[in-house]
Amino acid sequence: MNIFQTLQDIENQVKEELPGLGSTAAVETLRLRLLGKKGELTALMKTLGSLTPEERPKVGAQINQVREWVTQRLDEAALAMQAREREESLRRETIDVTEPRDPLPVGSAHPITLVMNELVDCFTGLGFEVMEGPEVELDHYNFELMNLPKNHPARDAQDTFYMDDNIVLRTHTSPMQARAMLTRKPPIRIICPGRVYRADEVDATHSPVFHQMEGLVVDEHVSMANLRGTLEAFAKRLYGQDITTRFRPSFFPFTEPSAEVDLTCVACRGKGCRICKGTGWIEVLGSGMVNPKVLEMCGIDSNKYSGFAFGIGLERIAMQRYGIRDMRLLYEGDVRLLSQLR
Ligand code: DAH
Repeated sequence: MNIFQTLQDIENQVKEELPGLGSTAAVETLRLRLLGKKGELTALMKTLGSLTPEERPKVGAQINQVREWVTQRLDEAALAMQAREREESLRRETIDVTEPRDPLPVGSAHPITLVMNELVDCFTGLGFEVMEGPEVELDHYNFELMNLPKNHPARDAQDTFYMDDNIVLRTHTSPMQARAMLTRKPPIRIICPGRVYRADEVDATHSPVFHQMEGLVVDEHVSMANLRGTLEAFAKRLYGQDITTRFRPSFFPFTEPSAEVDLTCVACRGKGCRICKGTGWIEVLGSGMVNPKVLEMCGIDSNKYSGFAFGIGLERIAMQRYGIRDMRLLYEGDVRLLSQLR
């Protein structure tokens, strides 16, 4: 076949096919067909050997010219195609980061956490500072410094889990009183929320793990009136202006005198109902004036300083607040309960 005819034919192929090609891959296929190792132009080059020395340069130049032309056309086409493909993919893959997505399921804070946060809010508003301490506590702080020496009968009510003879899981947050007095100087105004432990069987009102919040104030001239005023402010802040406190005489080794403090029943606002067993009052915390013996054991001069303390059970408040009748519900982690308390 006439070489010039073939070259013309190759040029025509390029002119006809190139405009119709839809992708860089198709351009590449055409390139291989013409310029590849087994391509048509490559095949023509190989025929140069069979020509006469006079013909060879002329034909060679002609082939080269066509090859350059083809290369250029294909390169241009490939470049243009690449740019178009990139634009298309950018358009296709654009994401609108402002588009709202399907709502994610949102969790909720645990009722104990909600109550704890609220109490912390309330007492820090009254000038108290939050102080936290260990759940694994020395017998010395948990009992001895709280005026509960070994073999004291009041230890019976607070049986706990012993790591060894001297280390226990704390049975109340009261050891934080000792930790505060031994590390700070009066005036002391602290609250200590946290987890406490007792060797109790699980039932509707008991759990071996529960929560308390201790309060302690030590300063000059601190009186029972200050204790009452503080707890009144707390009750009203938590439940409303019509809620008040009732102090009943009680006994705790670390306070003298001691009082159980009731709040007006929130369910019936004091009228008497099933929840308060008709009394109009709900028992919420233990409190009293810090026993001078405790002050002295913790290095505080009881002639100069006095103090009050209180311990609030958080479970009881949470149960009352959210109408939860069985304490076990608080620990089962059932979302049907938790999702009601957003
Ligand atoms: N620690 C006591 C308990 O767990 C509660 C308590 C009573 C704390 C009187 C006090 C207090 O600070 O003054 O039963």
